[in-house]
Amino acid sequence: MKTLAEIRSDFPILSSEVNGKPLVYLDTAATAQKPEVVIRTVNDLHRTLNANIHRGIHYMAEETTARYEGAREQVRALLNASSAREIVFTSGATQSINLVASSFSEKYIRQGDNILITEMEHHSNIVPWQFAAERRGAELRILPFDDAGQLRLDLLPGMLDERTRIVAVTQASNVLGTMPDLRSIIDTAHAHDIPVLVDGCQGIVHHKTDVQALDCDFYAFSGHKLYGPTGIGVLYGKEKWLAALPPYMGGGDMVGTVTLPLGTTFAELPLKFEAGTSNYIGAIGLGAAIGYLDTLDQAWIHNHENALLERATTLLQSEIPGLRIYGTVPGKSPIVSFTVDGTHPADIGMIVDKLGVALRTGTHCAEPVMTHYGITAMCRLSIGLYNTEEEIDTAVAAIKKAAAMLR
Ligand code: ALA
Repeated sequence: MKTLAEIRSDFPILSSEVNGKPLVYLDTAATAQKPEVVIRTVNDLHRTLNANIHRGIHYMAEETTARYEGAREQVRALLNASSAREIVFTSGATQSINLVASSFSEKYIRQGDNILITEMEHHSNIVPWQFAAERRGAELRILPFDDAGQLRLDLLPGMLDERTRIVAVTQASNVLGTMPDLRSIIDTAHAHDIPVLVDGCQGIVHHKTDVQALDCDFYAFSGHKLYGPTGIGVLYGKEKWLAALPPYMGGGDMVGTVTLPLGTTFAELPLKFEAGTSNYIGAIGLGAAIGYLDTLDQAWIHNHENALLERATTLLQSEIPGLRIYGTVPGKSPIVSFTVDGTHPADIGMIVDKLGVALRTGTHCAEPVMTHYGITAMCRLSIGLYNTEEEIDTAVAAIKKAAAMLR
C-alpha cells in the first residue's frame, strides 16, 4: 500500500509554492489536483495518438476509439452500471443535468406538472430545472433542509403527487457536506413511479457508488473533481430512460441516417447523446484517473479523509472565536464551510492565500444555501485524498491569523 508521502509525490502540483509558501490545497471540492498518470496520459495522447473517434479507419482513429470505449467501460465498472450503453460522456455534470432536464421535460413534462429539487442543490442542479419548469409551465418544488443541514425528509411524501414528474437531489452537498438519505428518497419517489436524478459530483469522489444498488434513474458527475481532466463528465441513465428520451444536441456521430429535408434517424445508445467530436482525450484521461484510484486502498482513503475532516472541524471550533460551521450532520463529506464573526469570507480567503492556503470563498454556486442562513458568502475548506494533518494545522493557523487581523 502506498504511503501518504508516496501518494503526494504522484501529484506534481502539490510540491509547488504559492506566494513564497508551500501550497496547502484545500479546495478539492472545486476541482481535484491531477496525478502524474492523468497528466501524462493527456499529454502523450496529444503527442502520439491523436485522431478523431468513431470516424476514421486508420490506425490512430481505431486506437483512440478503442481507448475511448475502454474509458466508458471503466466508468461503467466504477458505477456498476449494467451496460456501457447507459454511460454517456458529456462535458461535465452541468451538461449531464441540462441534458436530462431538457430531453426529459420535452417528452414528459406538461403544464401543471411539477418537479422536485432540494434547497441544498448546486446551481447546476437548480437552473436547468428552472428552465424546464418555465418552458413547460410546470411548478418547481423545493424540499427544505434544517439548520443543521439535514434534508426535511419528513416533508417529502407530502410534496410528491400524481403530477410530480422527476426528483433531482445531490448525493453530497458541496457546501454542507450533507449526504442525503438517497435510499429513502429514491424509495419514496419510486413508490409514486417518479424517477430520480442524483447529482454525484461531490459524492463519487469520496464514496463508492453503485447505481444498480441505489436504483437511481440518472446519475451525473464531473471528471475534474475525480482527479481527472476538466471538460469531461458522465451521465448514467437507466437504458429504458435513455432509449425513451429525445436527443439533446444534434450533430455528427449521434445520427443513424441523415436525409433532407427531414427524417433523420439517430444512433444507438449512448451515441445518440454524444453529438459532435467528443472530448475523447478527456474521457481517456478520466479513465487514467479511475485506474489510478483503483491502485489505492479505498478504505484507507475514506478513513484518512474523515480523520482530516474531524481534525479540521475540532481545531477550527476550538482555536477561532466566533467561527460558525454550516453543516453538522453526522457522516458528512469532507467539506467544512464556515464564517467568522466580524469578518468577510473574501478577506479571510485573500489573507490565507498570502500564506499559501487555497480555500474557496463566496456562494459556492449554491446561493439558496446562503439565503437559508441569511448570509451572502462562506469560506470553505475541502479535503482530498492527498491532504495531510500538517496542512490542516497550517490552514487553521492561517485562518486564525486572518481572523485576528480583520477584527
Ligand atoms: N461545484 C464546485 C464547487 O463546489 C465548483 O466548488
